[in-house]
Amino acid sequence: MNPLKSIPTILISGCTKGIGLAIAKMFAAKGFNVAGCARNPEELKDLFTDFSMRYPHQKFFMEVCDVSNKELIKVFAKDVLAEFGKVDVLVNNAGLFLPGSILEETEGDFEKQFLTNVSSAYHLTRVIAPSMVKNQIGHIFNICSTASITAYSNGGSYCISKHAMFGLNQVLREELKDKKVKVTAILPGATLTDSWSGTDLPEERFMPADDIAKLVFNAYELSAQTNVEQIIVRPILGDIN
Ligand SMILES: NC(=O)c1ccc[n+]([C@@H]2O[C@H](COP(=O)([O-])OP(=O)(O)OC[C@H]3O[C@@H](n4cnc5c(N)ncnc54)[C@H](OP(=O)(O)O)[C@@H]3O)[C@@H](O)[C@H]2O)c1
Repeated sequence: MNPLKSIPTILISGCTKGIGLAIAKMFAAKGFNVAGCARNPEELKDLFTDFSMRYPHQKFFMEVCDVSNKELIKVFAKDVLAEFGKVDVLVNNAGLFLPGSILEETEGDFEKQFLTNVSSAYHLTRVIAPSMVKNQIGHIFNICSTASITAYSNGGSYCISKHAMFGLNQVLREELKDKKVKVTAILPGATLTDSWSGTDLPEERFMPADDIAKLVFNAYELSAQTNVEQIIVRPILGDIN
């Protein structure tokens, strides 16, 4: 028997930076195989090398994939299943934030954010979740946002896409609740990542990405009977408006 088959596997979309990277590091340190994708090949290669050196008994699979392209995300998901045979934890994380308002944002921002933030998760889940259902075990985390439940003035299409992502989470939860597959929505407020590069706000105004990773791991490790439905977290000073 291949001993790697008994090691749990996590798949994270957008694993090279920010929240996705923090989750990848957390689960790698806890003994998981990690599969992930992003668009920048150098960053994927560096992460693969770093993880392989730190954790020689685990397996890592990093593939270039633009998740906004549904054909590419389906190929990536199938490649992960071919590599590991199963996925225990799926994190729909990759996302794009383009500030703006519905009336003033550039035409196309709506479609770009929908493809990256919602369509990616829909198609990735449709390939991965059936194997979880078949195995009667699995946990899907959908990285939503406080923008999934709050309309921000400079949120525009991002807010709409994150409301839709939360909708996807709720529908999935309903569909999978009797199939032993857990579904959890994570709704973070401002978290210090590359999405905020160029900000002149102090670091203390944000949550660290590591805190989001800790919340995800804590929700994951509860007993089989318990499903964490949603986690809403904000910086201690509240939202940045
Ligand atoms: N930071 C916040 O304040 C905050 C708050 C609430 C929710 N969120 C959500 O958390 C998630 C992660 O955000 P973050 O702030 O951690 O972002 P980030 O630091 O910009 O990192 C995004 C990650 O996703 C990858 N990515 C982006 N677009 C992609 C695409 N089209 N195809 C494949 N990979 C892609 C990036 O790599 P490449 O650039 O190489 O593709 C990178 O690894 C998003 O869904 C975001 O909406 C963030």
